[in-house]
Order: sequence, then C-alpha cells, then structure tokens
Amino acid sequence: MKTRITEMLGIEHPIIQGGMHYVGFAELAAAVSNAGGLGTITGLTQKSAADLANEIAKCNDLTDKPFAVNLTFMPTVKAPDYPAYVKAIIDGGVKVVETAGRNPAQVMPYLKDAGIKVIHKCTSVRHSLKAQSIGCDAVSVDGFECGGHPGEDDIPNMILLPRAADELEIPFVASGGQADARSLVASLAMGADGMNMGTRFMCTKEAPIHQNVKDAILAATELDTRLVMRPLRNTERVLNNEAVEKVLAVEAEKGRDLVFDDIMEETVGVYPPVMLDGKVEIGAWSCGLVAGLINDIPTCKELIDRIMSETEELIRARLEGMLAA
Ligand SMILES: Cc1cc2nc3c(=O)[nH]c(=O)nc-3n(C[C@H](O)[C@H](O)[C@H](O)COP(=O)(O)O)c2cc1C
Repeated sequence: MKTRITEMLGIEHPIIQGGMHYVGFAELAAAVSNAGGLGTITGLTQKSAADLANEIAKCNDLTDKPFAVNLTFMPTVKAPDYPAYVKAIIDGGVKVVETAGRNPAQVMPYLKDAGIKVIHKCTSVRHSLKAQSIGCDAVSVDGFECGGHPGEDDIPNMILLPRAADELEIPFVASGGQADARSLVASLAMGADGMNMGTRFMCTKEAPIHQNVKDAILAATELDTRLVMRPLRNTERVLNNEAVEKVLAVEAEKGRDLVFDDIMEETVGVYPPVMLDGKVEIGAWSCGLVAGLINDIPTCKELIDRIMSETEELIRARLEGMLAA
C-alpha cells in the first residue's frame, strides 16, 4: 500500500509501533521494521545517551530497514540530557524520531539538520497545528482511546481524525484504539495516511516483556482500563488492578488537595518490575481500550501481514461490493 506516510518514511506498510516505556527495545522495533512497518525504540527507557547509542546499534544489527526513536518530553523533576540523546540518535544514523509530550521545538534544528523525519505525537488539533508550524514532517494523532497519556480534552478518534484532516497539511497517522484492518481502513477513510499502535504490539511474540503482561492484556476487555492522575492534569490510561483502585481511592479522598507524592508508590518506577519481572499488580501501567480487541499473540510479521491482507479484502470486497450493488 502506498500513502504519504509510506512514501515519506520509506516503509512498505503504513503501520507504526509507538514508543512504549520498557517495551520499545531493539528486539521489538527491529521486528516491526523487518515486517514492513516502522518500529520504535523508546529513548528514555535507556538510562543514558550511551545506553541509547548501544540500543540503536543493536537495532541496526537486527534490521537494515528504517526504524524510529521516541523522545518523550514530560514534566520531570530532573530533565534527561536531551542534547546527548539527540546526538546518540543522529550518530546512530536513525532516520525517524517520534516526539511526544511537550512540543519538540528545542530539538528540531538538530534533527532537521541531520535530515531526520520528525513525527510528533499529540492529542489535539491545536497541538498538531503547532507541530506543523514548527516544521514537524507528520503528526501521530492520539485519540482518547489510547493507552498512555490521552491529554485532557477527551476527544475520541471518530471526531479527532476528521478534524485533523480538515486542518492539517502535513500527513498524519491515527493513534489510539488501532488494532486491525478495520482500524486501518476506518482511519484511512477519516483522512489519516496510516496508523500507530501501542497496546496491540505488546501482545506480539517479539515484544520483550513478561508473559504475565501479555496475559493480562489478553484477559482484559474494553471495560478494564481506568484514567489515573486526572486531578494532576497528567491523565494516564492504565489497566485496572488493585494498585490502580488504590490510586483512584486516594484521588477521590484528597480531591483538589491531591499532590503527586500521594500516589507515587503506585506510579513511579513501576515499569521495570511490571514489564520485565511480570509483577503486573504492583502499579499503574499504560494500556489502551483496544485491549478489548486483542485475543492472540502473533509475531509482528503475522500481525502486519494479516492487517494488510484483511485491509485489501475489506476495501475490495466489502466496500467496493457495496458500491456495485
Ligand atoms: C505500556 C505503554 C507505554 C507507553 N509509553 C510511552 C512513552 O514512553 N512515550 C510515548 O510517547 N508514548 C508512550 N505510550 C503511548 C504509545 O506510544 C501509543 O501512543 C499508544 O499506545 C497508542 O494507543 P493504543 O495503546 O490504543 O494503541 C505508551 C503506551 C503503552 C501502552
């Protein structure tokens, strides 16, 4: 399939794996890229720029296809050394960067000088327009359904994608709630040039996370995610569990007086034990509503091949068939 995104990124299929903390390691990124999509290493999961350089080198060994690095700009007490991370990305010959969180103006000149394509992931039309105005090449439009941080506007993709299509000149991919050929065809119909998936790629053979995490997503339905940290305006969609229930109880009890310290135990530093050791109950970890559509653990190639063949079938048989009637 040829879209503005496949052309821009030099990939076969318009399917991107979004950056995911403690999930987006070289193994997964390379598997997605080798399957014809665009895999992504999560930059800040690597503790230092030197570690990121090693992870990029590992990915370069595993694939000769393009892959991306995610750089997330989040409010943190101690900001990571972004210039050093950017240098590791440029020196590693990475062709695409996915930025998220605050807008990436501070790193744009360096990335653009190095000829790197920048896809900014954001949750609103106004932030997409801002990304376009500072020179981003594409946007990943992340609807309210998404795993991770959906922002504070709560606009689902059925509205957000056509709104983005009406306003943007640069290409965009649909992100949040994307799982299969139905997602891709619907997103293309609404003006996107591809789709970005997070939670779906966690349930693949190559995702280098504990089996307990994959099993928890398989067992979950679309009713099993919760929004935490809303009172702090740092909303995160996570899979429900005991720790999440506790966070929500504390949030309800403290109301406007809630401070980050009140929920730190369940929200800070939980990714390594959850993703690597499989202690899925100890804290809040991101998961999308799309968990309700995930029922198997294919390889990345099986998943992407299935999506692309069913996409063709949907368009040629179901949609064209309706016109022929
Ligand atoms: C476990 C997990 C961790 C994530 N970590 C990050 C991250 O560190 N940076 C980022 O930009 N997005 C992160 N995301 C968001 C994804 O890149 C993607 O935008 C989102 O998962 C799309 O929604 P979906 O899960 O419905 O596919 C994360 C998502 C998940 C599920």
